Amino acid sequence: MLLTTHNPYKPAVIDWPKLDPAALKRVTSLPIWDIVVQTEGRASIRVATYAGTVEDPQLREALRMNGGEEARHKLVLSKLVEAYGIELAPEPPYPAPADPLRAWMLTGYSECIDSFFAFGLFEAARQSGYFPGELVETFEPVIQEEARHILFFANWVAWYRRTLPWYRKPWFVAKTASVWFSLIRDRISLARGFDKSGAA
Ligand SMILES: [Fe+2]
Ligand SMILES: [Fe+2]
Repeated sequence: MLLTTHNPYKPAVIDWPKLDPAALKRVTSLPIWDIVVQTEGRASIRVATYAGTVEDPQLREALRMNGGEEARHKLVLSKLVEAYGIELAPEPPYPAPADPLRAWMLTGYSECIDSFFAFGLFEAARQSGYFPGELVETFEPVIQEEARHILFFANWVAWYRRTLPWYRKPWFVAKTASVWFSLIRDRISLARGFDKSGAA
């Protein structure tokens, strides 16, 4: 399903809607752009690295596509940043992860948690008019894609767990627990460090 529902849009041709000064200020002053750009950068290398370890050709192809879509999200965001004159902090390097499976699971579960909130916030921003409707519309392909990734990941977890021999199942449970531990820890430190500079 992931392979057959790919949307071949080109970030370069996205027509960013013109924003009135108040809306532009709201969009550019959100303290999230560095985090989202870096998250997409990390996601693409993590998914691509895991794809390289997978033997099954169809699963590998789906994972490659998933990683490619993450790289494209980053491109979409770089175009948005350019279009609205948002200043970004210098990006850190994105090295290939040492444990590709863990890295893939980190990204997969992150998308599940973060999208749960991000989709809701997007809808709240649309309904309240905090973001103009045209801008929310422009993000629709990215939102659709993250929804596909989540569905793919949830199915991957179920399938992966099922195909493991019984004696490796405890290892996978421990791995999953350690992934969740990292995710919760990262989000706590993010919330604590949010807007330390007072910029927002
Ligand atoms: Fe993404
Ligand atoms: Fe994704």
